[in-house]
Amino acid sequence: MSLKFNSKYVEGVVSASDLAAMEQRAKDALETLNNKSGLGNDYLGWVTLPEDYDKEEFSEIKKSAEYIKNNADVLIVIGIGGSYLGARAVIEACTSNNYNLICKDTPQIYFIGNSISSAALNEVVSLCEGKDICVNVISKSGTTTEPAIAFRVFRELVYSKYSNEEAAKRIFCTTDKSKGTLKALADKEGYKTFVVPDDVGGRYSVLTAVGLLPIAVAGIDIDLLMKGAADAMKDYNGECFNCNDVLKYAALRNCLYEKGKRLECFVSYEPSMAMFNEWLKQLFAESEGKNGKGLFPVSCVFSTDLHSLGQFIQESGADLMFETVVKFNSVDSDYIIKADEENVDGLNFLAGDKMSSVNEKARLGTLLAHTEGGVGNLVIEAEKADEYNIGYLIYFFEKVCAVSGYILGINPFDQPGVESYKKNMFALLGKPGYENEKERLEKQLGL
Ligand code: PA5
Repeated sequence: MSLKFNSKYVEGVVSASDLAAMEQRAKDALETLNNKSGLGNDYLGWVTLPEDYDKEEFSEIKKSAEYIKNNADVLIVIGIGGSYLGARAVIEACTSNNYNLICKDTPQIYFIGNSISSAALNEVVSLCEGKDICVNVISKSGTTTEPAIAFRVFRELVYSKYSNEEAAKRIFCTTDKSKGTLKALADKEGYKTFVVPDDVGGRYSVLTAVGLLPIAVAGIDIDLLMKGAADAMKDYNGECFNCNDVLKYAALRNCLYEKGKRLECFVSYEPSMAMFNEWLKQLFAESEGKNGKGLFPVSCVFSTDLHSLGQFIQESGADLMFETVVKFNSVDSDYIIKADEENVDGLNFLAGDKMSSVNEKARLGTLLAHTEGGVGNLVIEAEKADEYNIGYLIYFFEKVCAVSGYILGINPFDQPGVESYKKNMFALLGKPGYENEKERLEKQLGL
C-alpha cells in the first residue's frame, strides 16, 4: 500500500465498539459498490477506469498535449466543478500553486469559466495578449452557462488571432460522445474532441480526458498518474476490514458523523495542495450532501490557517468537526535554516534544521493540540506529492466517498440540488421558457 492510514488520533472520540458496529455497514457498502446494485449504479465507470480506459484516446490526449506544448504559450482551460477542479488540483499538487510563474518548457495554464466574474474573464483575456493560445473547453453536458459564456469569449479571441483553419486546430473540446451543444459545435467546426464517458460523473472524471489533457500539457506524466490509481484500485478492493483502509476511513467518518460531527476539515501542510483540497470538497459535498445528511467538507492549509482558523478549531471545534490530514513524508525542495552570528531574531535554535522538519514538528504539535482540544485527527501518509501518489490518493478518496455515501444511505453519484440556483438564475435572466418563474422571483426580491 502506498498510503498509511492512522486512526489513533480519533480513538478518544470513536471507541473500538463504535467502530465494530460500523464495520458490517462499511463492508455492505463496498459490496453494493462492487455488485453495482446501489443508487447511481449507472455512474460507476470510475471504479475500473484506471485500467479500463480508452487506450486509443489516451494516446490522442498525449498527441494533443504535444501539439499544445509546441504551439501555445498559454492553454486556456474552460470548465466548472468536476470539469476543472481535478486538472487544477493535480497540476498544482505535482508542480506548485505558482505553476504559471515557474513553468519553463510547458505553456501557462489559465482556468476560466469557473465563475461568472467579468473581472476574472477580462483578466485572462488580457493575459493572452501577444501570446499564442490554445483552448480546451470541458463540459460533459455541453450546456453549462459559466463555461459556455467563457467559450464564446475565447472562441472569438482564437478566431481573431488566427485563420479559421488554424483557429480550429487550436480548440479542443472535452464533452459527451454524441450529445449536447458543445459536441454539435465541435463537429460542425471540426474541433478535436475528447469524450467524457457516460458512466463517469463530473467529480469522478479527473482520470478521463477531462483532467488528463490539461495535466499532460503541464508536463505531468499521465502514465504514472494512472499507474498510481490502478495500484490503489487493486489495493482497496478487499473485504477484510482491517486490511482495507478505504473501509476503515469510510466507517470512521460515518462514526464521527453519527456522534454529531458536522464538518470534516481536509488539511495539508503544503500550499500546493490547496486545490487538491478544493477537489476533495467538491467530491464529498456533491456526493454526500443530500436528504439533510452528510458531513460538510471544509479545508485548511496549515500552518497558514493556524493563524486564522486555528483559534476556532482549538477552542470551539470539538463538537463540530474532525480533521483529515494528508501528510507527505518527503519534499522535492528543502531548505536548511542557516545560523546567524548575531542571532538577533533568536532563531539559532533552528540552525541546521530542514524547513521540512520544522513543518513536521508544527504538524505533530498541532495534532496533539487539536486532539487534546477534542478535534479528532485522521492521518493519511503518502511518500511524496508526485504523479504516482497523487493518482493513488485520487482513487483512494473516490472510493472512500462512494463507500461512505452508501453507508449514509444516499446516492453518491447525483447532484440534484445544483439545479435550484440554475433555475432561478435562468428565470431572472429571462431565458425563454422561464417567464412565469421570472415574475414570481422578481416579486419575491422586490424588483
Ligand atoms: O460533478 C459534477 O457533476 C458537476 O460539478 C459538474 O462537473 C459541473 O456542474 C460541470 O458540468 P458540465 O461538465 O456538464 O459542464
